[in-house]
Amino acid sequence: MPKRPHAQPGSPGSARISSHQPLQNRAAHALAPPAPDLPTPLLGNLSPAQFMRRYWQKKPLLIRGAMPGLASPLTRDELFALADRDDVESRLITHARKKWALEHGPFAPDELPSVKRRAWTLLVQGVDLHDERARTLLERFRFVPDARLDDLMMSYATDGGGVGPHFDSYDVFLLQVHGKRLWRIGAQRDLTLEPGLPLKVLQRFEPDTEWLLEPGDMLYLPPHIAHDGIAQGECMTCSIGFRAPTATELTAQFLYHLAERQEDANVSSARYRDPQQPAVTQPAEVPAALVEKVGAILAKVRWNDADVASFLGAYLSEPKPSVVFDAPKRPLDEMRFIQQAARAGIRLDRKTVLLYDRRAYYLNGEENALSGAKTWVTELANQRRLSAKRFVTLSSLPSMTARVHEWYCAGWIQVGELG
Ligand code: SIN
Ligand code: CO
Repeated sequence: MPKRPHAQPGSPGSARISSHQPLQNRAAHALAPPAPDLPTPLLGNLSPAQFMRRYWQKKPLLIRGAMPGLASPLTRDELFALADRDDVESRLITHARKKWALEHGPFAPDELPSVKRRAWTLLVQGVDLHDERARTLLERFRFVPDARLDDLMMSYATDGGGVGPHFDSYDVFLLQVHGKRLWRIGAQRDLTLEPGLPLKVLQRFEPDTEWLLEPGDMLYLPPHIAHDGIAQGECMTCSIGFRAPTATELTAQFLYHLAERQEDANVSSARYRDPQQPAVTQPAEVPAALVEKVGAILAKVRWNDADVASFLGAYLSEPKPSVVFDAPKRPLDEMRFIQQAARAGIRLDRKTVLLYDRRAYYLNGEENALSGAKTWVTELANQRRLSAKRFVTLSSLPSMTARVHEWYCAGWIQVGELG
């Protein structure tokens, strides 16, 4: 029912990215996704390429010590503070006397049950949008295309807490970041849900495997694997979740995109006409000729691969409805911005989505031609940052600094390579 957890950055052995760590180290260990062909502890010493071939969308994988020495990216109080914000999606799940209850946030601190009370869970969605440490943690999972990434959800539970046995429709990495959680999983076919509950709970849960996860351990689950995680004492779990739109959602969104495009191009001016309509005696009946003519209009709807690519880029890079960018209150003018970026580098704001394909790049839902900007846009999109040195080198390319300054003024990028 819920979505994803998330974990913590830092090189193996280092708990949190500390501001005392040398920059070089931080950049090298915390920010880079693992190389596709190198074995990594994150994936149980499989390379990302092997993991994708053998496990992704196929079968669960338990990874002991995926992030050894990991400490939670957020403390319990920091998570509670996020749950108090109205631009953050949070849910409270309680299970008492065999009854499940679900409440939606925001939750003021005194609206949450006491941490001494058993069996409750707080879920906070999209932590990566609000916390740099959470965003940094996601970088480790960028061996999967950004287009598939959804968000990092974090849960807090007291002893016995959980969200009930359920299945999710997307892939998830469940990373234990504090305390212990007992996961039971099963590849059952029967995914019937308990009727009438406020959350998705399986009617019959038949686990075939159980594992106790400790901080730094991680469980990968493909879609539709039944699972239930019960806190053993106070615990926190991060879920790195992936988006998998349904065919219905894609169809609806694509047709909407096409219609909008037609309107922009003023193609839709062909309006329904019926100069031959006779007078009727049964006014409630839809005329057969109307159905035929509308059918003919719809049969003219055409699209090609470029339309699909352009739809996907805009759709997948569109910020979530709750996202608000914080534009700088007193923005630097272009000259000053260039001077500072040349000293400190730049980075995409953690809420920014920048994707590209062969023809175009898509920045927070807006499409632009790639030609002329390919070198620096693809580098910025893949690295999500440019070092001071790279900024200086790339800033000689036409209109680079003007565009990047515009994005800085909109709050889409920040000065400084590291957050
Ligand atoms: C999940 O089962 O998808 C995550 C639940 C949790 O973190 O409590
Ligand atoms: Co789940």
